[in-house]
Amino acid sequence: MTILSHRLQLVRPSETKAMTARAAALKTSGVNVIVLSQGEPDFPTPAPIRDAGVRAIGEGRTRYTAVAGVAQLREAICGKLNRDYGLSYNIDQVTVGCGAKQVIFNALYASLDAGDEAIIPAPCWVSYPDMVALAGGTAVLAPCTPESGFKLSADTLAAAITERTKWLMLNSPCNPTGAVYSADDLAALAQVLREHPQVHILSDDIYEKLVYDVPFVSILSVAPDLVERVLIVNGVSKASAMTGWRVGYAAGPAHLIKAMNTIQGQTSSHTSSISQYAAIEAIGGDQNHVAGFVAEFRQRRDLAVGLLARAPGLSCLLPEGAFYAFPSCAGLIGKRTPQGKVIGNDVDFTDYLLDQFGVAAVPGSAFLAPSFLRISYASSQTDLDLACKRIIYACEALT
Ligand SMILES: Cc1ncc(COP(=O)(O)O)c(C=O)c1O
Repeated sequence: MTILSHRLQLVRPSETKAMTARAAALKTSGVNVIVLSQGEPDFPTPAPIRDAGVRAIGEGRTRYTAVAGVAQLREAICGKLNRDYGLSYNIDQVTVGCGAKQVIFNALYASLDAGDEAIIPAPCWVSYPDMVALAGGTAVLAPCTPESGFKLSADTLAAAITERTKWLMLNSPCNPTGAVYSADDLAALAQVLREHPQVHILSDDIYEKLVYDVPFVSILSVAPDLVERVLIVNGVSKASAMTGWRVGYAAGPAHLIKAMNTIQGQTSSHTSSISQYAAIEAIGGDQNHVAGFVAEFRQRRDLAVGLLARAPGLSCLLPEGAFYAFPSCAGLIGKRTPQGKVIGNDVDFTDYLLDQFGVAAVPGSAFLAPSFLRISYASSQTDLDLACKRIIYACEALT
C-alpha cells in the first residue's frame, strides 16, 4: 500500500536540481567539484534591491498581500512592459507568483483538461513537460535541431497542432540551447498561429535581458493581433540575480490572469511580501546592473565555447542568449573510458565528467535532447576555465 498518488508517477524530479545536489554532496565529502549544472547567476542581488527588501521589513510590510501581488509591483510590471515591449497592460492583467515557475504552473493548471495538448519545442526547459503532465494535459514535443539553430520552424509547428492544442510554449532566449528567435522567426510562427485560434502562446521571456549578439524580440512586437492569446511570463531571478527571492510574473488576458489567481489563492496565496517590495526596485528602479551582468556573461560564453571547441567529440553552437552552452556529445558515444566503461549515452558522459573529473553538467536527455549536455556558464571565469579544460582532458582520454 502506498500513500503516493497516481499523478506523482507522471512527474520526474528536476534533473538539474538532482545533478546539483549530487555535486554538492561530493563537494561536502571533500571532492573538488566545479558545478556547471545550476541555472543561477553567481552575482549577488544588487544593493538597491537588497536595501528595498530590508526597508520593507523595517516598515512592517510583512503581512499577507493581494493574491495577484501588491498593486505597486503590478504597476511597476505594467511600466516595464510598456517601456521594454511597448505594450499597455493594466494591473488586472498582471499576476505575481513564487517565481516564473509557479506562474507557469498556475497558467497550465488553470487551462488544461485531460487530453488538452501543449506543444513544447525540444530541447526544452526540464520543467515544462512535467508541469503539463501534473496539470493533466499532454505534452507534444516539437523537435528542433542544431541545423535550425534549435529554433521551432513554422512547418514543425503546423505539423504539431491539433484541435486539442491549447498552448505553444515559446522560450526565447532558450534554456538549454541559448537560441534567440528573430522577428522573422516569430513572424513565421505567428502566421501559422493565426490559422489556429484555439492555440494560446506562453511566451517565457525569463532570459529576455541576457542576449549577446542579437536583440530580444517578443512575439507581440511582430504579431500584436495575437495579444488576446499570449501570456507573457517573466521574473527577476535571472536579470536581477534574485533566484532565491522567488518573484515571477505573467501578463495576459484578464480572464486567464483571474483564473491563475484563483489557483494561487488556494495554494500559496502569494509570494513573500518582502520579496515583492524588493522586486518593485528590481523592475521599476535603476537597471544599470543588467549591462554589467550581460558583459560578464558574454565573456564567459566566449571563454567556455572557445575551450569546448577544443574538446574532441564535442560540437557546440554559439549560444546567442541565456547562460548555457549546449554541445552535442554524439561524437563520444561508443567510446571507452580509461576505467573501461563504454559511454553509451549522454548520461554516461555526464557521470564520467562528474565521477572522474569533478565537473557537474546536466545530460541533454533531461531537456529531452539525448546526446547533448548542458553547461551553465553562470560561474566565475576561473571555474569555467578549469572546468572546460577538465572536459577537454576527459574527451581526450576516451578511446
Ligand atoms: C526557461 C525557464 N523558465 C522559467 C524558469 C523559472 O525561473 P524562476 O522560477 O526562478 O522565476 C527558469 C529557471 O531556471 C527557466 O530556465
